[in-house]
Amino acid sequence: MIGIPQYIERFQEKNNAKDCTGKHVVIIGGTRGLGAATAEKFAKLGASVTFVGRSQKAGDIVLRNCRANSPLAAKATFSHVLGNLSLLSEAAQVADQLDTAIAQTHRGIDALVLTAGCYGSSSTYSILGGTVKTQEQLDQWFSLLFLSRFLVIQRLMPWLKQRPGSRVINILRAGSRGSLDIDNLSMDGKSNLETISSMGLYLDATTLSLAERHHEQAFYHITAGPMVPHPVVEDTEHFPLLAWVERTLRPWLYSQSVSAYDAAEAVVYVAIQPEFGPAHSGTLMSERLENLPLTEFMRSPDTHDRIWRYALNEISFKLPNEVAKFQYASLDGDDLTNEIQITHEMYSQ
Ligand SMILES: NC(=O)c1ccc[n+]([C@@H]2O[C@H](COP(=O)([O-])OP(=O)(O)OC[C@H]3O[C@@H](n4cnc5c(N)ncnc54)[C@H](OP(=O)(O)O)[C@@H]3O)[C@@H](O)[C@H]2O)c1
Repeated sequence: MIGIPQYIERFQEKNNAKDCTGKHVVIIGGTRGLGAATAEKFAKLGASVTFVGRSQKAGDIVLRNCRANSPLAAKATFSHVLGNLSLLSEAAQVADQLDTAIAQTHRGIDALVLTAGCYGSSSTYSILGGTVKTQEQLDQWFSLLFLSRFLVIQRLMPWLKQRPGSRVINILRAGSRGSLDIDNLSMDGKSNLETISSMGLYLDATTLSLAERHHEQAFYHITAGPMVPHPVVEDTEHFPLLAWVERTLRPWLYSQSVSAYDAAEAVVYVAIQPEFGPAHSGTLMSERLENLPLTEFMRSPDTHDRIWRYALNEISFKLPNEVAKFQYASLDGDDLTNEIQITHEMYSQ
């Protein structure tokens, strides 16, 4: 894209006028792409940032950039937690580590951004290679894009509650059209592409369910939009043809996209600007931050509830001790055991 689009310039101008000193932001998927750009922008505004990602090397670069960007007077801190969120067990360990670190240093989270995904790396091309089941017998994208995000949000909820008005921002594809087979929410027998293209619906439903349950926080799901991908095909050895196609199309691809740094302005805007409060909203937005209408399928509270229960059931089945740590998962706040019991019964019928 030639130059910065006007809507991003507007976000940038307002973001630059904010001081985020004293705020703490957690980014799931902060070692590259949009997550890394978001971390660096928050650092520039004075916030402390904790981010998660698998690559130590990429994380070290982000840490260095954050420290270099951060105003000295802000006394902000930056840390990288290593973990592979395609595995629920690792997502739980990451949550444990975040818990400990936040208890010691920050005592709260002002914004939780979940962006770890499957775009712009060689892993994207594994989508073409068929479904990959993890050692937990779950589809890797299903775990990464939905179940792990669900688990991490639940686990970090007490820290979000410490900061009234805190915000949870999921980045994927909001306001997706279509529907899900509500009796096959585990997407058994579906292709990789079908699974990935449905993940937006799971996150839409989760965003709305969270807003129904937690009235002091705000929940957003934003479409990532066309972003310049970071090195698209790293694996030229296994995907030579795709690497060649990508190199050939790159000038065109880039002319249609914004940089991750520009896209990050929208994420930061939603996280800090007053127009995106007050709390108690479940909002689906385009990359321009325009509200997206709920589709007929998404308008049904029953849909949200079924997806919510499905996630609780799947996580409690894979990690029996984990849901006991979800302190704020039930609608009335203190009846989680009952909710899980009902859910188990629903699924065992
Ligand atoms: N870029 C676009 O145009 C576009 C379009 C549509 C949707 N999206 C979605 O928007 C989001 C942001 O896209 P993006 O281009 O910034 O990057 P991305 O390649 O999808 O990944 C961003 C981050 O996720 C981390 N990550 C990936 N797999 C992980 C795993 N298994 N466990 C832990 N961390 C993992 C990566 O770090 P490590 O490799 O260090 O783990 C990286 O920090 C993604 O969810 C993507 O699917 C993007």
